[in-house]
Amino acid sequence: MTKLLHATFGAMALAMTALPAFAGDPAAGEAAFTSQCQNCHNVTNDAGEVLAGRPNMRTGPNLYGVIGRQAGSLDGFRYGASLVDAGTAGLVWAEDDLVPYLLDPTTFLRETLDERRARSQMSFRVRDEATARDIIAFLTQFSEVEEDAEGES
Ligand code: HEC
Repeated sequence: MTKLLHATFGAMALAMTALPAFAGDPAAGEAAFTSQCQNCHNVTNDAGEVLAGRPNMRTGPNLYGVIGRQAGSLDGFRYGASLVDAGTAGLVWAEDDLVPYLLDPTTFLRETLDERRARSQMSFRVRDEATARDIIAFLTQFSEVEEDAEGES
């Protein structure tokens, strides 16, 4: 019986890890973006309309279309060398990379590049994973991948 239970729980755990990570809540993400990100970033579409944040905010790169974009690749933004290197090495922003990046950008770049001295020029960290996923869900609305995401949530 115990064995069977273990087997059952084992299978459940496996099934759960096989599921895609839970999706964040875009409305909560918008609020978190407003309080945590817009001091440095905005979301401006190709027509120049500011869809989130404030106009003329250039401390951080425009986050319009960031999901699915090569890291460190926006024309005209002066990125740090490590982020550019990560992009050149093949990093294209997806939720699974953005979560650890937002929680700790420098550690993420060190691990991604396997380079102890790598560092991020983004001096900000999101405090918890759920908030990071909410913000990513919000940003996904301004990215090409939107069509692929399931419409639920
Ligand atoms: C204090 C200013 C600041 C804050 C606050 C900030 N960022 Fe950044 N962010 C930057 C800078 C500067 C960069 C460029 C980093 C580099 O070149 O290493 C950046 C880079 C990024 C990138 C990579 C973009 C790309 O083109 O590769 C993402 C994604 C990002 N930030 C998301 C966020 C989110 C989401 C928040 C809010 C939770 C946030 N940032 C808060 C300054 C900030």
